[in-house]
Amino acid sequence: MSAFANVTLTVRRCVPADLDAMASIERVSFSDPWSFETLSAAHALRHMRVLVAEESGRASGEGGAAPVLVGYVLALVMADEGEIADVAVAPDARGRGVARALLDQIILDMVADGVRALYLEVRESNAAARGLYRSLDFVQVGRRRGYYQHPNEDALLLRRDLVPS
Ligand SMILES: CC(C)(COP(=O)(O)OP(=O)(O)OC[C@H]1O[C@@H](n2cnc3c(N)ncnc32)[C@H](O)[C@@H]1OP(=O)(O)O)[C@@H](O)C(=O)NCCC(=O)NCCS
Repeated sequence: MSAFANVTLTVRRCVPADLDAMASIERVSFSDPWSFETLSAAHALRHMRVLVAEESGRASGEGGAAPVLVGYVLALVMADEGEIADVAVAPDARGRGVARALLDQIILDMVADGVRALYLEVRESNAAARGLYRSLDFVQVGRRRGYYQHPNEDALLLRRDLVPS
């Protein structure tokens, strides 16, 4: 049996107590990570939606263990447009559908907020993220030259329409 056969994934709204764990995942996920302070300021923005994913039942043995925060997504609502600002999953939890669960839920939340189109930027070389967005029907609509540092690289601008235009 897989070590993760009994793991339950929950997606819920972020609370301030989550920010430390998010900053830790951020540091091992990006060459230019958001700091705890940046995550905290983003979380406080009225138009920011922040969801976290946590896994329960990861430990074997009596009584199990406390839920572990394994990923998060931050997305901004600007009238009828939304933007995914940040998404990351802890390295040891990748490849199990955590990012897909986070994005599926944020898309539902955005639709409920009246968002008609969702945008994001992604590094051209980020095959995992591009695969994720492709699987969720995002399409490339632009390119921002030299958008990223460490290393310098273009961003691809992707969009997904949430309601038929
Ligand atoms: C990109 C990232 C968020 C994906 O998280 P994840 O939880 O591993 O992704 P999921 O398991 O939900 O995968 C969903 C889909 O994404 C695609 N995908 C995920 N990892 C992939 C990889 N390494 N290569 C290609 N496609 C990949 C697949 O289509 C996958 O569906 P499938 O499993 O049915 O094939 C994760 O790799 C990460 O945190 N990377 C570092 C931070 C980052 O790059 N964030 C994005 C910034 S734009």
